[in-house]
Amino acid sequence: MLFIARKALASVHSKASRLTAREVHCLSSILLSPPLVSLDFPENWTPHSDPPPPVSFESVQKTLVIDGKVIAEEIRTKIVNEVCKMKKAVGKVPGLAVVLVGQQRDSQTYVRNKIIACEETGIKSVLAELPEDCTEEQIIRVLTKFNEDTSIHGVLVQLPLPQHLDEVKILNMVRLEKDVDGFHPLHMGNLAMRGREPLFVSCTPKGCVELLIRSGVEIAGKNAVVIGRSNIVGLPMSLLLQRHDATVSTVHAFSKDPEHITREADIVVAAAGIPNLVRGSWLKPGAVVIDVGTCPVEDSSCEHGYRLVGDVCYEEALGVASAITPVPGGVGPMTIAMLLCNTLDAAKRISF
Ligand SMILES: NC(=O)c1ccc[n+]([C@@H]2O[C@H](COP(=O)([O-])OP(=O)(O)OC[C@H]3O[C@@H](n4cnc5c(N)ncnc54)[C@H](O)[C@@H]3O)[C@@H](O)[C@H]2O)c1
Repeated sequence: MLFIARKALASVHSKASRLTAREVHCLSSILLSPPLVSLDFPENWTPHSDPPPPVSFESVQKTLVIDGKVIAEEIRTKIVNEVCKMKKAVGKVPGLAVVLVGQQRDSQTYVRNKIIACEETGIKSVLAELPEDCTEEQIIRVLTKFNEDTSIHGVLVQLPLPQHLDEVKILNMVRLEKDVDGFHPLHMGNLAMRGREPLFVSCTPKGCVELLIRSGVEIAGKNAVVIGRSNIVGLPMSLLLQRHDATVSTVHAFSKDPEHITREADIVVAAAGIPNLVRGSWLKPGAVVIDVGTCPVEDSSCEHGYRLVGDVCYEEALGVASAITPVPGGVGPMTIAMLLCNTLDAAKRISF
């Protein structure tokens, strides 16, 4: 009986692998994250009769600091090679277009970092800067031009947009095959549904899972808590962890007793944007912590008068968590690396 079940499982797995190979045959194997459909095993639940083994933690946990900069650099080196190979094979390089509206300082910095990352990896980049008071029609004209430009494979609109602009309408204008941010409802829907492979997964959640995998953290069967449920981070993060077979709880601004829920988690992903929200006492000893939050906090001793602080009280988490990403230098560099990966994949899809 068990043998038959295993055989069926193996056959489904190999079917999923074939499907993946056919559907995404041209994509790079730069990341260790597997195609999502390859994770879709049949959901046969076997009751456990043995009691769980006792869990013992040392009173002070040694905490591994997950170095996002180093991991992102490894990925970027592979992207450079892939871009070179593509140039040799088809005489083209991937192209990314970025639309920036207004002069918000944070947004300007994020965009500048993305453009520099493109330059450093051999990806062509084009920046369209529009004034704060521009109209929707102006932005749509720019997006239509990028949608039709065959040298551009990825298009992104830097968020947030000024209040007077309809964000949903504008984001929906980006062609699905070029939506490297993965924000379109179709990409999000495919991410949510078993048996579907989204063309793009949003960069920050994708980077968080890649960090977990590269740090040797097992996700399947673990309790994961995602703090935050925004469309660009929290929601896709929860969906992606679920596709990786974690048992996922979401904590948001209306959650009652977030501390208690978080303390159940083997994996905590914090993306609320509230400095030091998660205290050491919120964490189960041995939990793995991915801190997405990035908030500028005034600090006159720093060069620019502020420093970046995460959602997790880093000093308190050290000694409790088994692993943690620092802020800065954790998730941030991975988000950019995933954007480059998505752009490369988009280019390969239409070039080979
Ligand atoms: N490192 C990166 O690459 C990267 C990328 C994107 C966003 N970020 C950072 O991540 C953070 C979140 O970004 P976002 O765009 O998702 O923000 P957002 O404001 O759109 O969403 C915040 C979410 O947190 C929840 N929340 C707010 N207060 C809470 C509380 N007290 N307890 C529990 N949940 C609470 C809200 O319900 C909401 O869902 C920000 O600091 C942002 O700068 C970092």
